[in-house]
Amino acid sequence: MKVNGIERPLDVDGDTPVLWALRDVLGMTGTKFGCGMGLCGACTIHVDGAPTRACLTTVESVGKANVSTIESLAATRVGRALQKAWLDLDVVQCGYCQSGQLMSATALLSKNTAPSDEEIDAAMSGNVCRCGTYVRIRAGIKEAARALSGKAVA
Ligand code: FES
Ligand code: FES
Repeated sequence: MKVNGIERPLDVDGDTPVLWALRDVLGMTGTKFGCGMGLCGACTIHVDGAPTRACLTTVESVGKANVSTIESLAATRVGRALQKAWLDLDVVQCGYCQSGQLMSATALLSKNTAPSDEEIDAAMSGNVCRCGTYVRIRAGIKEAARALSGKAVA
């Protein structure tokens, strides 16, 4: 499986969920297990840039596509802007949901550089936060968008 641009040999059944291949075989534990049923978003990765639930996606189905995980967040300009905004605004509470939140936010800002509140809510609706950090997540996405556009932060 190609993970963060590197081909990683995997000796698992094809129907193994990518989540377990990442966590248990490759030791990449940044991607979290929440529900295992596609309901919480904690396991969000990108498959060729599209936000995808790793708990429901099999290794076989990924084929030659590139899987991106939270471990590669700092490799992109959008990811770095989100990391900075998350730190500046103290977005995180317990942190458990946040790798999934950041992967969904990265996918959003990579195709929409100035999302409205409604667009943010739609893009992030599959990511549940039991700590209720939704207001700060939205603010973090807006701050990252402003930083990426070069406009001063209000
Ligand atoms: S663990 Fe995949 S959506 Fe909850
Ligand atoms: S920060 Fe605790 S679940 Fe989201």
